[in-house]
Amino acid sequence: MTRKILVTSALPYANGPIHIGHLVEYIQTDIWVRFQKMRGNRCTYICADDTHGTAIMIRARKEGRSEEALIGDMSAAHQRDFSGFGIQFDHYGSTNSDANREICAEFWKSLREADLVTERAIEQLFDPEAETFLADRFVRGTCPTCGLTDQAGDNCTCGATYSPTDLIDPKSTLSGATPILRESQHLFVELEKLHALLNHWVETSGALQTEVANYLKGHFLAEELRDWDISRPAPYFGFEIPDSPGNYWYVWFDAPIGYIASTREWCETNGEQLADWWRDPECEIHHFIGKDITYFHTLFWPGMLKTAKYNLPTKVHIHGFLNVDGKKMSKRDGTLVAAETYLKYANPSYLRYFYATKLTSRVEDLDLGVEEFTEKVNSDLVGKVVNLASRVGKFANKTGLAKTYPDDGGLFTAAAAAGDEIAAAYEAGEYAKAMRKIMELADAANPFVEHAKPWEMNKDEQRTDELRDTCTVALNLFRQLAVYLSPVLPELAAKCGELMGDEISSWDQSKEPLVGTPVSKFKRMMDRVQPEDLKKMMEESKELAAEDTAAGDQPTFNDSDQPLKDEPLADEISIDDFAKVDLRVARVVSAEHVPEANKLLKLTLSLGGEERRQVFAGIKAAYEPENLVGRLVVMVANLKPRKMRFGLSEGMVTAAGPGGADVFILSVDDGAQPGQRVH
Ligand code: 2FM
Ligand code: ZN
Repeated sequence: MTRKILVTSALPYANGPIHIGHLVEYIQTDIWVRFQKMRGNRCTYICADDTHGTAIMIRARKEGRSEEALIGDMSAAHQRDFSGFGIQFDHYGSTNSDANREICAEFWKSLREADLVTERAIEQLFDPEAETFLADRFVRGTCPTCGLTDQAGDNCTCGATYSPTDLIDPKSTLSGATPILRESQHLFVELEKLHALLNHWVETSGALQTEVANYLKGHFLAEELRDWDISRPAPYFGFEIPDSPGNYWYVWFDAPIGYIASTREWCETNGEQLADWWRDPECEIHHFIGKDITYFHTLFWPGMLKTAKYNLPTKVHIHGFLNVDGKKMSKRDGTLVAAETYLKYANPSYLRYFYATKLTSRVEDLDLGVEEFTEKVNSDLVGKVVNLASRVGKFANKTGLAKTYPDDGGLFTAAAAAGDEIAAAYEAGEYAKAMRKIMELADAANPFVEHAKPWEMNKDEQRTDELRDTCTVALNLFRQLAVYLSPVLPELAAKCGELMGDEISSWDQSKEPLVGTPVSKFKRMMDRVQPEDLKKMMEESKELAAEDTAAGDQPTFNDSDQPLKDEPLADEISIDDFAKVDLRVARVVSAEHVPEANKLLKLTLSLGGEERRQVFAGIKAAYEPENLVGRLVVMVANLKPRKMRFGLSEGMVTAAGPGGADVFILSVDDGAQPGQRVH
C-alpha cells in the first residue's frame, strides 16, 4: 500500500552558515525521503529557514541592514549549500512568511480558547548597551554551582542547569556589558494542563525512540511541567502577538509552526490541500531533529498540535551530535567545516556515504575520523562498488548486454533477495546496517570479475561472447548496488542509469537484470579521496574562523575610568615584595551566614587534600552562601590569622569593588586546582 508521508528536518537558524554538523541531519533525512520515494510512497520533504529572534536582529543591526535583507541572503546561501550536497526538499520556505503569521495566529487562538495562556511579569537580564533583553545563550558568566568561568546562561559544563540570573558575574555576549535585571510582562503556555495528554502520547504512540521516551518520563514528565514563556517584549524580530501589542511570539513558538506554513506553501503551488497532510490520520508525519531540541519537539510541539487540532508526529527521529576525530568540532582546530568549504575540496557523495555508514536508529553521537573517512570511501565506494563497473565499462560499450542473463553462480538472485532486509534497515534508520549489507554484496560480486579476467578476454576475438556475458553480470551486479545505494548516492545511481540506458528510480529495479541493451561510453564515476584535499579543507576552515574573529565579531568594550580615579595605583614594589604574599587557589567547601554579623559570610576554604582554612569575608551583601559553594577563589593563604568576635579568620578571599553589594570575587579559569600558587 502506498503511504502518504510528510517529512521535515529542523529548520536551520538564519544567523549562520550550514556546516558539516548540520549536514548529519539533512543527509540523514534526505536519504530517508529518497528511500521512501524509491519505494513508491508519496513522500514530501519540507524545510524552511528559522528566521526570528534576537540573534538575527542584532546581526542585522551590526551589518547596518534590514533583517529581511539578511535572512534573504542567508536563505539563498543555505539552499545553495543543501543543493550542493544533493539534499532535495520539495519545498523550502521561511518562518517569516505570511502563511506562518496566519497559522501562528490560528494556534494562538486555539491556545487562548483552551484557556492555556497566562500572563505575568518576569525579571529578565537586559543589555543596557544593545538595548535588548537577553536570551539565555547571550549571557555568559561563572557557574553558580561549581564556579567555572565563561559558562552559558542556562547550563554549565559541570552539568548544572540554572537561570541566567543566577550566574555569577554575567556578561552580555552582544556587547560585553554587564546585564541588568528588568521587569516585563510575558505570556506563558500552561503546559501542565496538557501533562496527562503528553504522558499518554509519550507512552503509547510509539513516536519516540525508547531512550527518549524513558528520558522524558524520568525527567520532565516525572514532575509538574513548567509554564512555557512564549512571548518576548519589543525590540524583537518576529511576529507581534495580535492581542498583546508590544509583545512578540518567541522564536520557538513560530519555528515549528513553520513546518506547517511551509507545507501550506507547497500545497498552494502543487494543487494539494493542507488538511490532507496535517489533519488526515492516514498521513504520517516524521520529524528529524538533533538531541538538543528534543524538549521542544516532544513536549511543546505535540501539546500545541493537539490544542490546534493538527495531527501529532508519527515519529520524531532524534540523532546525536557530530564529533571530528573524537573531539567536539571546533573553529580553532579547523574541524567546524562549512558546507561551502567542504564542497571546494571534496565530493559530497563521500560525506553522504560516510554518514550513512555511521547512522543508527539510536540517539548516539557519531565520529568523523578523518583517516576512517578516507579509508572507507576509498575502499568501499571506489575499491568495491565503482570498481565493478570500471573493470568492464570500456569493454561493455563494445559488446552491449547479453540477450539472456548468464549464469553467475547465483549472485544476482542472492543480492535481489537481500533487498527486503536492506529496505527494512533504511526504514528503521539503521543506515549503518544497510551499508554493511550492501558492502557484503559488493564483496561477493568482485571476485566474479577477478576470476573471469575480462581484460584477457578482450585480447581474443574468439571470446567476445564470453566477454559480453562477463560484462552483463558485472554491470548488473553493479546496478543492483547502485539501486540499493541510490538513497545515499543519487549521483552514482544517475551515472549508472546513464551508462546502462535505464534511469534508476525504483527499488524494484534491483529484482530483474537488464539484458539485450547497449551500454554507453564509460565515464569515470568517482575519484579516490585525497588526504591532502582534506588537510587543505581544514586549513581553510581555520583561516576563515580567524578572519571572522578579526573582522570584528568581537564585542566592543568601553570601560569607565572611574574605578582607577577612585583608587589610584599604589607605590611600586619589587618582585620579592610580591612573593611575600602567598596567593593560592582554594575551593569554597562551605559558606554560611554569621547571624551576629551584618556584612560577613563564614567560608571554609579547601587548599586540597585535608587542608582547610576558615575565613570571614565581607561579602554578605553581594553573595548568597549557596552560590559560593564549589567555586574556586584566590585566597591570601599566609595572612596572619586574626581573632574576630565570631572566630578565627585564617586568610582572605581576594575580591574587587568598592564594597557592599559591589564586591566581585576573583575567579579562576577552568583547570586550576585548589592549593596551586598564584604567581
Ligand atoms: O535548533 C535549531 O537550529 C532551530 N532553528 C530548529 C528549529 S526546528 C523547528 F522547530 F522549527
Ligand atoms: Zn558548573
